[in-house]
Amino acid sequence: MRILGIETSCDDTGAAIYDTAAGLVLHRLASQVDLHRQYGGVVPELAARDHIRTLLPLIDSIVTDPANQDSKIDAVAWTAGPGLSGALLVGASVACGLSEAWAVPSIGVHHMEGHLLAPMLEAHPPQLPFVALLVSGGHSMLVDVERIGHYRVLGQSLDDAAGEAFDKTAKLLGLGYPGGPEIARAAVNGDPKRFDFPRPMVNRPGLDFSFSGLKTYTRTTALKHELDQQTVADIARAFEDAVVDTLCIKCIRALKQTGRKRIVIAGGVGANMRLRAKLKNEVEGTGAVVYYPRPEFCTDNGAMIAYAGSVRLNMLGGQIGNKQQGFEVRPRWSIEDIQ
Ligand code: KG4
Ligand code: ZN
Repeated sequence: MRILGIETSCDDTGAAIYDTAAGLVLHRLASQVDLHRQYGGVVPELAARDHIRTLLPLIDSIVTDPANQDSKIDAVAWTAGPGLSGALLVGASVACGLSEAWAVPSIGVHHMEGHLLAPMLEAHPPQLPFVALLVSGGHSMLVDVERIGHYRVLGQSLDDAAGEAFDKTAKLLGLGYPGGPEIARAAVNGDPKRFDFPRPMVNRPGLDFSFSGLKTYTRTTALKHELDQQTVADIARAFEDAVVDTLCIKCIRALKQTGRKRIVIAGGVGANMRLRAKLKNEVEGTGAVVYYPRPEFCTDNGAMIAYAGSVRLNMLGGQIGNKQQGFEVRPRWSIEDIQ
């Protein structure tokens, strides 16, 4: 079975084809970063308009690619939420239109389930059960995954998501958008000993996160110094180290609490190299194994949606059609509420 996956929840237009027998056939992404950069963040209305402009040509380019040509698409999976409502509606309407035209099932996918399942696209996928650290621009959470579809949130951000904290911190340091990669780039030249930032909520029991205090601490530090290139690099490094340490501590705590031996890291912040290296070191020191998607599948993409769609279709025995699904999108949608 070949599933076309469509991702339009935020500022990336993604499309991919996943074959349940042969694996990922191809995937393509059209990033809107250049469009939003001048505003220092995502402008929802512009995001939706750009998806309208980009999505059909992107789908056309992969459906007619020699790697897929002559092969029928058997189902269309699309991101139904959470995300920006206008952006989601573009993907939903195109997906449901195609499913109607091709007379194939369409299935709305939960964006965070897509992220969570992205490591399954790799050569050595994790076995179930596992704990997942989902860290994106809109969400930060630790989830216990007993089996696919059974997600228990162990802890989550009480305020800013980890990616959001990276984005806001980059902005106040005068770095570009998106902030995560910009902070990481600046931090490479930073002195890790110059500033020591707090690790929020690590001394309290539980698995929730809070990054807004760290953001304020960063702002206060920035205001006290002249922001020359070295100081920006030093602050970026202190901030990155604080986020990475905090996430590591909570991951190890989640593994201990659940008794799981595997942890999956996914979502845009999962592309952070310092986080990947530190988690690998520290978590593997406890006897557990860390799994990541490749960095390009940490950030938003169509491949994870095509894969999650294939899993959902399999669970439902293919018994789903676009008529039941309609055009409903769910901008706010807890991962615990997936049907
Ligand atoms: O998962 P994602 O692509 O979109 C959402 O679903 O939100 O995550 C985007 C977030 C942004 O906040 C971005 O700054 C962050 O992921 N990000 C990173 C890195 N690459 C992307 N954060 C830290 N380090 C990175 N290398
Ligand atoms: Zn995402």
